[in-house]
Amino acid sequence: MTTVLDVRGVRHRYGGTVAVDGVDLRVDAGECVALLGPNGAGKTTLVNLVIGLLARQEGTVSIAGGDPRFAATRRHLGVVQQTLGFPTTLKVRELVVGCAVRAGLPRSAAGPVLAELGLTELAGRRAVKLSGGQRQRLQLAMALVGDPALLVLDEPTVGLDVAARRAFWATVASRRERGVGVLVTTHLIDESAAVADRVVVVDKGRVVASGTPDELIAVLPDRTVVATTAWDDARLLALPGVLSMSREGARVRLRTRSPEAALRVLLVEDPTVADLRVEHAGLEEAVVSIGAAA
Ligand SMILES: Nc1ncnc2c1ncn2[C@@H]1O[C@H](COP(=O)(O)OP(=O)(O)OP(=O)(O)O)[C@@H](O)[C@H]1O
Ligand SMILES: [Mg+2]
Repeated sequence: MTTVLDVRGVRHRYGGTVAVDGVDLRVDAGECVALLGPNGAGKTTLVNLVIGLLARQEGTVSIAGGDPRFAATRRHLGVVQQTLGFPTTLKVRELVVGCAVRAGLPRSAAGPVLAELGLTELAGRRAVKLSGGQRQRLQLAMALVGDPALLVLDEPTVGLDVAARRAFWATVASRRERGVGVLVTTHLIDESAAVADRVVVVDKGRVVASGTPDELIAVLPDRTVVATTAWDDARLLALPGVLSMSREGARVRLRTRSPEAALRVLLVEDPTVADLRVEHAGLEEAVVSIGAAA
């Protein structure tokens, strides 16, 4: 598998504040890695180091084998930034054409990308007059027009409605099928689980956990068995693996590390049991518990 992004031992301080504290990160071709963490975790700083916008103090970054501090390497890079002001005079088409030309492509490369992102009708409008959602589409068009090997997206869907969000990720998915690697930062845990192959959780400048969304959920200790039953509390608490319980009438919630063990006994021995369900904690709870343990 080709590695399109390789970050090793990157550290960054702003004066006395350590914003990124020794991060290693890899993105392969076609892979989507989500960088998930609270405000101030160091996500944007890391992104700015990756895209060559911040001068690197320690560590190495390689994009498609090159150093992003060189313009020749940045040709392989498409970026959607968290905050970006557009020049007041430039129109949508001019901005996308400019990116195509900088990537060494003909001006005509802009047309299909504008169409793909539904911007053809807005191509003659000044970028500063676009709505928030249209601006994000324009940024994505500018990121994609140069045919990048790596897309770096810093909170790209903030402020987008559900339909726009879906369309944004559908466009990104179509590029991933062609081998484009994606690094995306987000606070939206559900979104990271939906779009990423791997989630890297950062807090205070460090990686505190990483894995597939399912792996992160699995490190959570507890799951909950929900059921209705005529059994009393003492009998339920004696089930294998049950740590605690709560009830509302006949409806009980059993907190357990091994729902299988409790279920096996319940299903065999309790003829009154019904409406069985096992609830897994969501990724959000997984991240909170990992952050607390780190
Ligand atoms: N230009 C700067 N000068 C000084 N400190 C900064 C600067 N930019 C960021 N920081 C600090 O570095 C830390 C990491 O900030 P960063 O913007 O990378 O976080 P983030 O994870 O992107 O947060 P958010 O989720 O809010 O976008 C924070 O403590 C922030 O206050
Ligand atoms: Mg940020």
